[in-house]
Amino acid sequence: MFRVTKSKLELQVLRFAAAVSSAAHRAVMRQIRPGMKEYQLESIFRHHSYYHGGCRHQAYTSICGAGISSAVLHYGHSGAPNSRTIRDGEICLFDMGSEYYCYTSDITCSFPANGKFTDDQKLIYNAVLAASRAVFDSARPGASWVDLHGIAYRAMLEKLKEGGLLQGDIDEMMKVNLGAVFQPHGLGHLMGLDVHDVGGYLNHCPERPQEPGFRSLRLARALEENMVLTIEPGCYFIDRLLDEALANPEQVRFINQEVLQRFRGFGGVRIEDDVIITAEGVENITQVPRTVEEIEALMAAGREEEEVFIPQLNAEAKLRD
Ligand code: GLY
Ligand code: MN
Ligand code: MN
Repeated sequence: MFRVTKSKLELQVLRFAAAVSSAAHRAVMRQIRPGMKEYQLESIFRHHSYYHGGCRHQAYTSICGAGISSAVLHYGHSGAPNSRTIRDGEICLFDMGSEYYCYTSDITCSFPANGKFTDDQKLIYNAVLAASRAVFDSARPGASWVDLHGIAYRAMLEKLKEGGLLQGDIDEMMKVNLGAVFQPHGLGHLMGLDVHDVGGYLNHCPERPQEPGFRSLRLARALEENMVLTIEPGCYFIDRLLDEALANPEQVRFINQEVLQRFRGFGGVRIEDDVIITAEGVENITQVPRTVEEIEALMAAGREEEEVFIPQLNAEAKLRD
C-alpha cells in the first residue's frame, strides 16, 4: 500500500538535512551585506551545506529574492538567476534547502538585508509569523490541511487589519477569500525523497479545492502521525493580484488603498519550516531565528561570532562514515 508517512530511519535523515540547511541559512544571515549580489548568498548557502554537512546537492534551485524579486514565487530559475544587487533597506526572501542521501529539506527565511526591520517590514513579517504559529498550534493528526490553510489566512488578515492595511470584518474577508490576494500559494506540501513529495491527492481523493490559494494546495488530506511537510505561509505584494482585488467590488471594500500604495514594490515575506507530525502535534525540525528580535540579534552578531557547526546524525541513520 502507498504510504505518505515516513519511517523512523527516514525521519532521522530528514532531521539531518533540515539541520544542515538551517545552519547554512544562519550563515547567510550573518554574512549578508547590502551591495552583494543575490547569487553570492546562494553560493554561501551551497558551500556551507556541502562543506559542513556533506550535502552535495540541493533539493531545488535556490530562490534568493531581495526587494521586488522577493514577490516572485519561483524566482531564481535560469531566466532570473538570483542576479540582482541587494540594496540597503530591502527585504530578502531566501528559500533554500539541501539534500542528503536523496532526502530533501525546504526552508525559507525572510529578513532585512541590513539587519534591522523597518516598521512596514515588521508589520508584514509579524503577520506571516502569526499565520505560521496559528498553524503550529492547530496541526495534529486528524486536522484537515485545507482547514489549516484557512486558519493561516485568518491569522494573517487579522494582523494586516491591526496594521491598518485592511479594514472591516474578518469573517466577511474570509468569505471573499481576501487571503489569496496576498498569499496565492498553498500552505505547504509533503516532503521526502522529492521536495514536493507525492501523495497529496491519492486516487484524486480528496477533491482538489477550487478557490484561489486553496486550489494551489499540493495536499488536501487530513494529517497523520509521521507525515513530513512544510508550513510556509507568505504575504506578497504582486501588482497584478492587487489590481484585480481593487477592481473586485467584493474585495476592494476591505482594502485601505492609501496604505496599500505604500507597499507597492515592497516584495514579499515567506516563513517556511519543515515539520514532522507527531501524536501530540508538531515537531519543528527547522532551527533558524524566527522572531524579529531573534533575527536582528543574529544579524547584529554577524561574522565576528561565527558559530562552529558540527552536524550530528543519529547513529542508526549513519549512512556513510
Ligand atoms: N521551494 C519550493 C517550495 O517552497 O515549495
Ligand atoms: Mn516548500
Ligand atoms: Mn521552499
